Amino acid sequence: MKIGILKENKSNEMRVAIVPSTISALTKKGYEFFVETDSGLNANYSNDDYSNAGAKIVDKNQIFDCNIVCKVNSPSENEISSLKSGTLLISLLQTIKEIDCVKGLADKKVSAFSLNLLPRTTLAQKMDVLSSQANIAGYKAVLIGANHIGKYMPLLMTAAGTISPARTLVIGAGVAGLQAIATAKRLGSQVEAFDVRPEVKEQVESLGAKFIEVDSDSEDGVGSGGYASETSDDYKAKQQELMKQRVGKSDIVITTALIPNRPAPMLIPKEMVETMSPGSVIMDLAAENGGNCELTTPNEIVNHGGVLIDGNANLPSTMAFHSSQLFSKNIEAIIDHCHTENGFNLDKEDEIIDGMLYLENGVVRHEPTREAM
Ligand code: NAI
Repeated sequence: MKIGILKENKSNEMRVAIVPSTISALTKKGYEFFVETDSGLNANYSNDDYSNAGAKIVDKNQIFDCNIVCKVNSPSENEISSLKSGTLLISLLQTIKEIDCVKGLADKKVSAFSLNLLPRTTLAQKMDVLSSQANIAGYKAVLIGANHIGKYMPLLMTAAGTISPARTLVIGAGVAGLQAIATAKRLGSQVEAFDVRPEVKEQVESLGAKFIEVDSDSEDGVGSGGYASETSDDYKAKQQELMKQRVGKSDIVITTALIPNRPAPMLIPKEMVETMSPGSVIMDLAAENGGNCELTTPNEIVNHGGVLIDGNANLPSTMAFHSSQLFSKNIEAIIDHCHTENGFNLDKEDEIIDGMLYLENGVVRHEPTREAM
């Protein structure tokens, strides 16, 4: 079984899908690896590192002879046209948003896993690219946010006077949010967090942050599988009132609110941004899905009256060595999961494989994608 690794070609993408340690591990199980020249350079993995792990460094066109092709992002038009029928493509393609890509892949009769469609179950945790990358995004959002504000994060008592700690507000306490809380606490900031799912209160408090609660006795916002659902208008109005009080007092606001398969909920309108002090910052992690702040522009830093709204949509890429390492570990776990004593097998009875395999030899299996087409 031959596995090929394509070099990323999106601007600002520094990650690589597979790092040398995965190659060493899977070579022992009989897999052969072919790596496009310089695939890992931006993440500080050299061609020699790959060769030493047992991979062959090859030109791009040789990657398309492999049975499995791995990439972080979706393939380019040229790459799609080079893929051969029956190949399995593993990438972070967002099927519904990238319908043209899916159509192109279907025409080429390839099979494909979307890492975005992995079910969030306990068994699948070690394969969960979204979580490993969101964790990094939460961590990096705090570091970049702290860098934007002209303030200390911790309380400091110095001979020149006492500095009060920076105030960080985290909206959405899922994977990215909890890591942001932990990181901001480690830096000494005062941290508050809000989430529509009351069950995260304990997790937020165990990290030493204050949990802000909307006064509601309904199940508003609680979805299934650890995700949120849409809230009622009454809940939204109460939440807005609460946010107005907290956002204006914060130095750093980190927004991570996500409802699966929906545009990001808009929680910080322009007027709320205007209650913040100049020099404060909003790190909007939901930028790619429309943003949790009205003023967010993906991949830009907007300055609104001295308040910065940072819409960096690829924070994991800014920490490419470790984000690639974790991404690669997740893919290694997926390949391991499909590995049987008779070799690699796509068992569609398996919940994880069934969830990710949106395309099989050109046939679209994922119902919402088919409907979108
Ligand atoms: P998650 O699903 O684990 O967490 C999202 C949290 O938002 C959940 O706890 C949910 O209950 C909460 N939420 C939903 N609606 C809310 C509302 N109205 N008010 C308050 N909380 C609400 O998702 P994860 O993995 O933590 O990702 C968070 C966001 O970060 C996503 O939008 C994701 O696309 C984005 N992301 C951004 C990256 C970047 O580089 N900018 C990198 C990775 C992820």
